[in-house]
Amino acid sequence: MVISVSQIEAALLVLSIPFTYFFIASVLEKRQNHSTFLKVFPEVGFRDEWFHGVRATFRSLFKTAEWASEGYSKFTKHDSPYLIPTMDRGTVIILPTEQMKTLGRLPEDQLDIFGTLQEQIQARYTVRDQRVILDPYHRYLIPSQLTRDLDALTGPMYLASLEGQSVALFGGSMLISITPTLFRPVTGYLVKLWCWYHARKIAKICGPYIEARIRETTQEKIRVAGSRKPVKDALQLIIDEAISRDDDTQLSTSLISDRLLITNNLSLHSTTLTLHNFIMSLITSDPSLGYIEALREECDKALSDVGGTWNLEAIRKLRLVDSAIRESMRLIPFASVAMARTVVDPKGISLKHGQSSVPVPQGTILASPIKSIHCDEAIYPDAHRFNPFRFVTTELQDSKSGGQKYVTSKPTATPDDNFFGFGTSKNPCPGRFLAVHEIKLVIAYLLTNYDIEYAKAKPQGTDLLAMKVPKMDAIIRVKRRSG
Ligand code: HEM
Repeated sequence: MVISVSQIEAALLVLSIPFTYFFIASVLEKRQNHSTFLKVFPEVGFRDEWFHGVRATFRSLFKTAEWASEGYSKFTKHDSPYLIPTMDRGTVIILPTEQMKTLGRLPEDQLDIFGTLQEQIQARYTVRDQRVILDPYHRYLIPSQLTRDLDALTGPMYLASLEGQSVALFGGSMLISITPTLFRPVTGYLVKLWCWYHARKIAKICGPYIEARIRETTQEKIRVAGSRKPVKDALQLIIDEAISRDDDTQLSTSLISDRLLITNNLSLHSTTLTLHNFIMSLITSDPSLGYIEALREECDKALSDVGGTWNLEAIRKLRLVDSAIRESMRLIPFASVAMARTVVDPKGISLKHGQSSVPVPQGTILASPIKSIHCDEAIYPDAHRFNPFRFVTTELQDSKSGGQKYVTSKPTATPDDNFFGFGTSKNPCPGRFLAVHEIKLVIAYLLTNYDIEYAKAKPQGTDLLAMKVPKMDAIIRVKRRSG
């Protein structure tokens, strides 16, 4: 077959249409968004060049972390907000810590958190049953119930294989976020097919278990006033809540499966990534400092003190491990820029800039440069070094037992003004106690059962938007401990 030049041109023309649309839409969208604040706040990442908005936006794919850090040292020290372009959220105002704290006190009808998080995961496309988002009771069940039952969860905790769905949700939401608004319904529709395919597949697998549990729960009539069956898992909590709603549609297996999925999605990536970073921090530390051995000694002792089976009491004794987790989360937070909030007040809000007060309109996104705060030498001396015992102090034991004991100065699950691993003090992650408990269990199991080889070089992850994507082919060498 011979292809003529005009056919190639026609093909190129057809192909170029979506790209041209993409380009124009990007330029319009990002410029419009950017121009609102351009004249007031300093900016990082933009250059004096043609199509500066759209070009900076594309560069943000790999430069967000670098720009956040540059702005932090140039402007945050002078208490000034600054702008960075981002591919997923348009131009974002990065706030100095003090302002973030003050603004954090605004009610959610002025500065929105939940809607911003939903936008982040593009919930309108990625979540199959929208009742999960419209009535998000998983937000309240986690802190009030699941956390209370950590001891019951210690034995049966396991990792389910939900990889495909999780990748669809996070990969898909990122794809939608970087698509210009004009084309989002198209990307959104494709991602919706992808996510719904997995959601349906999972609901089919879980369906019989969910139905059996609903039957069990209703037959046992456990809801006698005052009595409370010990909670076994998140599924039971969701079913209990659904029954209490007096609305039979709440007991649909697919809705319950979707509620389980969103809880899993919120916890799976964050927990595995934090655990991965922690293991990497440990194995790339200087072997002569003996961090792995010190943590193992603590785990061995805690386990033998409780007779050889991990329980809440034993986990609570892991003070060095707790400090080491916090330190790893400080040094490698889940994102360089986070705590995004959207101005939803139609009248807008005001930001402090030097001596003046600057109005910013509804729709503006504000965020914090958390990695830069975590690595600020003025806050954390020797900030770039992994010091796993940074958050414990030693105290002399009483004369009978002798020796020293460790006291946690800052528990990992407690956010403060300089540690955002689990969000802000005002709106912390409701799953943080569960997550820390889970990480401690896995680490304790790993250290007590395996020898881990120290690595010679630190595997470098890749900056992608505000995330640090870990190096997927990094190798960790372990050997079962004898005895
Ligand atoms: C190490 C693991 C985890 C990390 C690093 C983490 C981090 C965070 C952070 C930083 C936020 C606040 C985001 C913001 O304010 O912008 C958050 C919110 C949230 N997290 Fe976690 N999280 C983890 C594990 C979990 C687990 C295990 C669950 C559930 C069992 C969970 C459920 C949630 C929920 C529901 C929210 C939204 C809260 C809201 O709607 O206000 N997280 N998480």
